[in-house]
This record gives sequence, C-alpha cells and structure tokens, in this order.
Amino acid sequence: DTGDYALGGHPDFLAKEIAEQPDAVRRALAGRLDTRFATTRLGGLELDPRDLRGVRRVLFLGCGSAYYAGEIGAGLVEELARIPAAAEPAGEFRYRNPVVDPDCLYVAVSQSGETADTLASVQELRRKGGRVIGAVNVIGSAIARECGNGIFLHSGPEVSVASTKAVTNMAVSFAMLAVLLGRVRDLSVADGRRLVEGLQSLPGHIAEILERDGEIAEIAKRHAGASSMFFVGRTRCRPVAREGAQKLKEISYIHAEAYPASELKHGPLALVTPEMPSVVLVPDDELLAKNVGTIEQIRARGGPVVAVTDAELPDGLADDVLRVPRTEPELAPILLAVPLQLFARHLAVALGRDVDKPRNLAKSVTVE
Ligand code: AGP
Repeated sequence: DTGDYALGGHPDFLAKEIAEQPDAVRRALAGRLDTRFATTRLGGLELDPRDLRGVRRVLFLGCGSAYYAGEIGAGLVEELARIPAAAEPAGEFRYRNPVVDPDCLYVAVSQSGETADTLASVQELRRKGGRVIGAVNVIGSAIARECGNGIFLHSGPEVSVASTKAVTNMAVSFAMLAVLLGRVRDLSVADGRRLVEGLQSLPGHIAEILERDGEIAEIAKRHAGASSMFFVGRTRCRPVAREGAQKLKEISYIHAEAYPASELKHGPLALVTPEMPSVVLVPDDELLAKNVGTIEQIRARGGPVVAVTDAELPDGLADDVLRVPRTEPELAPILLAVPLQLFARHLAVALGRDVDKPRNLAKSVTVE
C-alpha cells in the first residue's frame, strides 16, 4: 500500500522524489569525495590506478533516461579524463553484434537493475570478456548481481514511473567516475579540487532550485496549451535537452523533440511558430554567446522561448527564464536538468495527468 503516509505530505510520488534529490545526492557523495587528494573514491570499482589508466574507452549502456544519463556521463569522462566515451541504447547494443574491446570500460546504467535489454547487454559483454561495471540503484537486482561490481546510486526507492532522483544520481556518479579517471591521467590537483568542491555544493544548489517550484509552476501552466515543444541544448547540455523532452512526453503526453542547437537551421526551424515553444538550455560556459544567438533565431521566427540558465541573460531575451545557481561548468548539466523535471510535472498536473503512472508505461521494462 502506497497511501498518504508513504507520500509524506507530497501530492504524488513524482513530487516527493523530485524533492528528495538534495538528500539523494548527499547519499551518492557520502564517503566518496577525497578532498585531500582532490579525487573521488568509488570502492565498488576495485581497480587500482594502473588498471584505471588501462581504460582506453568508456561506453555507457542503458535505456531511456538511463541512456540519456549515460550521455551526460560520456561527456564528463571525455572532458575530464580525455578518454573517448559514448553512450548507446542497450537494446541496440545487444543486437548489433558489437566489437567487444578489452580496453573499454562498459558501464551498465539502470535504476531498477532489472531492465531486460541492459541485462542482456551485460550478459553478452561478460560472455565476450568485456569489462563491465554497473551503475545501479537497486542493490541485489539482476544487473547488479551480473556485473559483480560498480557504483551504487543510493537514490533510495523510486516509485514514480518517471525517473528523477535516480537520473540525477546517475549523472553525479558519472561525474565522480570522470574525476577518478581524470586524476590518474591529466586532470590537475587544482581542477580535481574545483570539481570535488563543486560536487559538494550540488545538494544545496538543488535545494535552491526546488524553492522556485511555484515560479516554475506558473511558467509551465502558461504552456499547457502547446501540442508540441522543442528542447534545445548543445554539447554538455544536449543530453539534458533529450532528458527534458523525454520527461515531458512521458508524463504530460505533449509531443516534445530534442535538438542540438546547431541542428536547428538544418530543418526543425521550419516548425517554429508562435504555437511552438522552445525550451533552450543556456549554461554560463564558453558557448554562452552561441546559445544567446540560438534564442534570437527562434524568437525572430515568432517562437516563444523558455530559457533554462545559470547565466545573467540580457533583459527580454527570452519570454520566460528558469534560473539555477551557478556551478562549475562541467557540472552545470546536473543542475539544469532539475527545473525541467518540475516543468514537466507542473504541465502534466495542469493537464490532469496521472503523473506517477503514465499510460502505456511500466516502471521497469523486464520483458522486451
Ligand atoms: C524514465 O523516466 C523512464 N521511465 C525510462 O526511460 C527508464 O529510465 C528506463 O526504462 C530505464 O529504466 P532503468 O533505469 O530501471 O533501467
């Protein structure tokens, strides 16, 4: 029975799980940040520095939001450790007869630890001698057992079909993995320290975003009439756009499509009209001017823009602004994803959807 007591005063499990994120992230970080040596400790990996240096490639495998979190992870590993990294849907990987590279670290990403495609990928990798670790929330689950070692997500139980706190902890765990892999290579002590401190500040920053729930609700409600939306993000924020679109589709049933900003003019800009809002991710990084340009291009065609940003944007640049606190640029995707969860939930609530149990979906896809 998941009655009022379990909801702890929240209107639904989705709201509860979104609200639990500061604590969930604290648990993910607990005992894993090494401030003395400006690195991280992931006990479950059981790899010594020489083994870690032997990793020549990293491939994240997962389904749905776990796959998008893997894309965030691939970006972090490549940027901080300078190891080529990518993510692939596990359901594709298992059937395309992939080359299994003994120097690649495969990371199976799953909240439930029971997703059939992800489990099958792990089994195939093990049969072929691949080095695979899990990034799993549920201890004792099939994927956790099959992998034998990895990084537990420690998000606590997730009931709502739409994954929120587990996805955040996936991204946080991959930032720790990227720092670990980076610090046995070329990531400096100073950068290691900057990132460890950035990780420590995440729970507080997420709490600040959650305080803006009412403001985000107002903005979301204004878009409840839209039949379709774009989610736009480039480089670090491209997977965040994909995850934002996924969350909106899943719980509100509004069609949403994610695009890298650079691709807009190659086709999708033709769809921009006053009826087609775009949610644009604008991190305060070296590509800020480019993202400001993207907003101008959309608005020049009459498209309403919701900017999600940790930057100071010129007044009137966007129709609406969802602000998040500033963090280290590499960690910004983790924070920028949070207002998108609230945005999707409020839109879905405004439309009267059952946000915890969207139609046609199961919490974990254990059969094909
Ligand atoms: C997320 O909101 C979705 N419900 C879905 O994409 C989910 O992330 C996917 O099915 C993977 O589940 P898992 O993490 O339990 O493997």
